[in-house]
Amino acid sequence: MWHPENPIRHRLPPARWPTRQEAERALLFTPIRIGPIWLESRTWVPAMVPWRATEEGYVTRNILDWYARFAAGQPGAIVVEATGVRDIKSGPLLRIGHDRFIPGLRQLVETVRRQSGGHTRLFIQLIDFLTVKRRVSKEKYFDRFFTVKDRHRRALVELTGDERWLDVDDAEVRAFLKLAADEVHDRVLDERELETLRYGYRERVTDVHLPHIRDLPKVLPEIFAAAAWRAREAGFDGVELHYAHAYTMAGFLSALNTRTDGYGGPREHRIRLPLEVYRAVRERVGSDYVVGVRFLGDEVIEGGSRLDDAVYFGVEFARAGFDYLSVSKGGKFEDAKQPKVGQAVYPYTGRSGYECMPTVLSDERGPFGRNVPLAAAIKRAVNAAGYATPVVTSGGICTFDQAEGILQRGEADIIGAARQTLADPDWFLKMRLGRGDEIRRCTFTNYCEGLDQMHKPVTCKLWDRVDLDEPGVPLSDDGRRRLVAPRWDGRRER
Ligand SMILES: Cc1cc2nc3c(=O)[nH]c(=O)nc-3n(C[C@H](O)[C@H](O)[C@H](O)COP(=O)(O)O)c2cc1C
Ligand code: SF4
Repeated sequence: MWHPENPIRHRLPPARWPTRQEAERALLFTPIRIGPIWLESRTWVPAMVPWRATEEGYVTRNILDWYARFAAGQPGAIVVEATGVRDIKSGPLLRIGHDRFIPGLRQLVETVRRQSGGHTRLFIQLIDFLTVKRRVSKEKYFDRFFTVKDRHRRALVELTGDERWLDVDDAEVRAFLKLAADEVHDRVLDERELETLRYGYRERVTDVHLPHIRDLPKVLPEIFAAAAWRAREAGFDGVELHYAHAYTMAGFLSALNTRTDGYGGPREHRIRLPLEVYRAVRERVGSDYVVGVRFLGDEVIEGGSRLDDAVYFGVEFARAGFDYLSVSKGGKFEDAKQPKVGQAVYPYTGRSGYECMPTVLSDERGPFGRNVPLAAAIKRAVNAAGYATPVVTSGGICTFDQAEGILQRGEADIIGAARQTLADPDWFLKMRLGRGDEIRRCTFTNYCEGLDQMHKPVTCKLWDRVDLDEPGVPLSDDGRRRLVAPRWDGRRER
């Protein structure tokens, strides 16, 4: 896991929990309107992939249990994990790319309604992603994936002074490169070939020589619109278009998007497809349905979009009619760590990944509320442009005073807490009931994120080994971890 050089180990911020009366008066627990609906409170569980779907992308019992557990804590809203909009194989990630997924998703909606007593709104995050292949061995790369071109031969001549390379068989070039040192590869292969060799093959939105990438602007609006319609059919209160982190739509917004077909280059062009997707979705689901967006306040990569781009995007998203703006940060492939052979590069392993889910091993600023200034700047600009579109912030928020302070100062409208809610799904409820001293506090050391990286069912280290013999508790396949937090009896009088 990446962390800043010479990191400071931060202590958790001191927590003063409100009394029930203070919580009742708090902005955090007052309702807020999102487009056509209301949230009962400004508390929010952002999307978290728990790795519990079937290989075919269906809802499972474990998914229902996972969301039921969050629903029991009655947050204002839960956003269901990134869910694939296409009908393609994508491992145990939820999918919504065909009508056959609707019944399972409907069950998920019903589960959350029941468990939250109707107090929690449920949105689903819609994602599209491009191909990322596992890194292969050097031998396999040169045998199977490397195409010998004239420029490789010329580079070899230059490197060795031997003209013979211009005429030898491809097999001889491959055989030589297979055994060659890294420095030789550096001089013979181009940047993309080196990346594929060392990190595995990864598509970008700028690969317009590939017809399916060139045509993304033609196909994606309809694919997202159909997925959003299915979400409505399944009973979700709204959809969140995933325009953040390392995925297709964020790729279009990125300053690294240099497409020249009107969908890249200046930010007015980079936002074009994201707006076209929005309009197609809106047309399909109607004006009485929540359509939100998650996007980056800062990509945190060299040459990437910064806050000024994000402010522009935020205002344009609000102008277009999005019902909420959820601001995240980083989480990109460009600075990710080199994966081992046999594994795929993972977008949360570099500095941008750190900024997405900051830990206590941090710089002077520390992880707590670290991303709030991004949301605040976007909110200021959106409001100044005359829009009241609610802004959701997240990143290291874990105390009442932090959350209430952000709202009171007008830095954001809604408080998202992913890891703190994973550590204690009842924490919002405990605060509201004046029982904050019973909150299990996240330690922000990212054991959960490590599991996510290994594509293992995500759990929290604070509770996954506790009471494993509790009747009916779902366990991991090896039986060593419970998959949901222990129950908390909120009705019990003290
Ligand atoms: C296990 C895990 C899975 C995540 N999956 C998603 C996801 O599917 N979509 C998304 O936008 N963010 C995802 N995130 C990022 C969180 O939504 C959130 O932005 C981040 O954890 C920072 O907030 P926090 O400090 O409250 O945890 C994930 C985070 C974790 C820890
Ligand atoms: S494993 Fe638990 S305590 Fe650790 S960061 Fe994740 S949610 Fe927080």
